[in-house]
Amino acid sequence: MNLADLNKVALAMVTPGKGILAADESSGTIKKRFDAIKVESTEENRRDYREMLFRSTEAMSKYVSGVILYDETIWQNAKDGTPLVKLIEQAGAIPGIKVDEGTQALPQCPGELVTVGLDKLAERLKKYYERGARFAKWRAVIDIGSGIPTMTAISVNAHALARYAALCQAAQIVPIVEPEVLMDGDHDIDRCYDVTQRVLNKTFQELRVQRVELEGMVLKPNMAISGKKCPKQASVDEVAEKTVRLLKACVPAAVPGIAFLSGGQSDEEATAHLNAMNRSGGLPWRLTFSYGRALQAAPQKAWSGKAENVAAGQRAFTHRARMNALASKGEWETGLEKKVA
Ligand code: 13P
Repeated sequence: MNLADLNKVALAMVTPGKGILAADESSGTIKKRFDAIKVESTEENRRDYREMLFRSTEAMSKYVSGVILYDETIWQNAKDGTPLVKLIEQAGAIPGIKVDEGTQALPQCPGELVTVGLDKLAERLKKYYERGARFAKWRAVIDIGSGIPTMTAISVNAHALARYAALCQAAQIVPIVEPEVLMDGDHDIDRCYDVTQRVLNKTFQELRVQRVELEGMVLKPNMAISGKKCPKQASVDEVAEKTVRLLKACVPAAVPGIAFLSGGQSDEEATAHLNAMNRSGGLPWRLTFSYGRALQAAPQKAWSGKAENVAAGQRAFTHRARMNALASKGEWETGLEKKVA
């Protein structure tokens, strides 16, 4: 492992004024997104959609540091035969790859999941590196509910995240470590805070046990936020203040950067929260975005599967990427949203 090079890539992924496009929806997830815009989820449509994003020159060169791809996409070529990975590289962004293989039910823990995909991971990483991937992603999912999460679920998922991270670094690939505490329930922000604290503490304990170099990774956490069905929704300032406090308590300063998931927040909420955190200043790590839905909902709607809408889709994507890029520097304001509508 060359740690200096891993650190360089990790820092580039969290460059101030840039963030990560999570375009790594599995075939099942992208089908759900396409169903919502009445587009059939064929291999060609998935390619055309992602090609539209990667050819958004302004967004990709100015506001996007890296793109997380799904296995299908990393091997796909654009309509003109150029590998999609090359489009990303030509824009000056770094290609990355989702390497987990989804979740399975966790025995003895009803309703809880464990993320799988460690078998043969070393071999897969080697192929992805040859294709151009310089970072990877593994997502663990922790649900909040009555009696859950169990320590079992937190522990097995943290163990798998650390095993994955160690294998990535050995393959000269920067791991994005993503332990996602879902915001689906009716829990309040303080319960989210407590659960996320347990999850992050266990994750960093496992990372240490498995000798992962913190300078060569990026953390992708959820924010401390109210559950979607909670009657009392925390304000932007409360989310920002509690998330920063939580991260300061759990994330060593040696980690170069933190790139949040959006997790079901609205586009503007995800931007406002990131902005408020960066405005608070005095942070030991860079804070940016690694959004899927909060970057893509608008372009998906504008595109709706029609070739004549490609320019509108690219405009919608560029707008959201720019808003989040500003938020990564604490320079976003709500008034900027209206100007481009
Ligand atoms: P969302 O921003 O839609 O949560 O997706 C980010 C991601 O990569 C989840 O693994």
